[in-house]
Amino acid sequence: MSQSSELVRGNLLSILNDNTFHSGETLGVTLGISSAEISNHIKVLTTLGLDILSVRGKGYCLSQRLMLLNTQKIREQLDSTHSADVEVLNVIGSTNQYLKDKSIDVENGHTCLAEAQTAGRGRHGRKWVSPYAASLYLSMHWSFSGGYSVLGGLSLAIGVAIVDALNQCGVQGIQLKWPNDIYAQGKKLAGVLIEVEGKIGCNCKAIIGVGLNVALPKNVQIIDQPWIDLAQLTDPLINRNFLAGTLINELARSLTLFERDGLKPFISKWRALDIYANKAVKLIIGTQSITGINQGIDENGAILLETEQGVKAYHGGEISVRPI
Ligand code: ATP
Ligand code: BTN
Repeated sequence: MSQSSELVRGNLLSILNDNTFHSGETLGVTLGISSAEISNHIKVLTTLGLDILSVRGKGYCLSQRLMLLNTQKIREQLDSTHSADVEVLNVIGSTNQYLKDKSIDVENGHTCLAEAQTAGRGRHGRKWVSPYAASLYLSMHWSFSGGYSVLGGLSLAIGVAIVDALNQCGVQGIQLKWPNDIYAQGKKLAGVLIEVEGKIGCNCKAIIGVGLNVALPKNVQIIDQPWIDLAQLTDPLINRNFLAGTLINELARSLTLFERDGLKPFISKWRALDIYANKAVKLIIGTQSITGINQGIDENGAILLETEQGVKAYHGGEISVRPI
């Protein structure tokens, strides 16, 4: 997307964000372009997941007002000790990829957020549906000394941090699914994708990506599993800038603690939030699947599965847990 198109679309959205209809002609005059160009920009915004009503004779109107991200408002929420940068971007491929591509060394806690992602991703290259201004798409950089081995269980610590942030925003009843998912009412509310770069034994750079549904539009593209957003859990809806600031604080606090003490301080909290505690589950490991009773996590963050052969710990990024 060219810079100028993005700018025009940004301006178009700020005009449309007032709950009234605007004709293509008036929008064109205000923005100095033709009504045909307005129509094309509206089509692109629709493909980014925005629900824009188009009524013959009346023009265009956003179906619901957007609460846009604002760097200053996010910064106001941050702990006074948080010195790392917070970047708010408009539409990008993936916030994780954006931080990965940053060539200069950035401070621990450096965060980027985007209004929409065109190539948002989950684990194993799965897609993360990322409509415009509907969620938080956030990635934080953190460098760890000691190589990959010190990162075992990090996604569990991050899950606890997200629950703490949500609780501070008044959202209760959140649960965690091993190893990286956040659930409410049995449906997926958020996901964590941690991507690590570095050589064995050296410092490694972790990108901690969080996708958290705030208010997905009615016309959201199909998500192939049950999902939920904060709009279904809270009234009034949480302010996205407040939520973003609270989440950044909790992630930075938890990463600092994890770097010092590992997973230990998070284990009992994680166990209390386990969505499948003592339930029958299936572990899918590549093409194999093993059925048993979920006995929670061990001190390294491995999932404990009880089968007729006894209790065994399973570790590793290739495993998925499913209820049975
Ligand atoms: P796993 O147990 O392996 O983590 P998962 O199905 O949760 O399984 P992930 O890679 O963690 O897989 O997450 C990606 C999946 O999340 C997608 O395949 C899709 O089913 C679901 N998904 C995609 N976008 C969203 C969204 N905005 N909200 C909720 N769920 C989503
Ligand atoms: C999952 O459930 O598999 C994890 C989903 C993680 C999505 C977030 S959105 C911000 C960051 N950028 C990405 O491309 N992915 C993560």
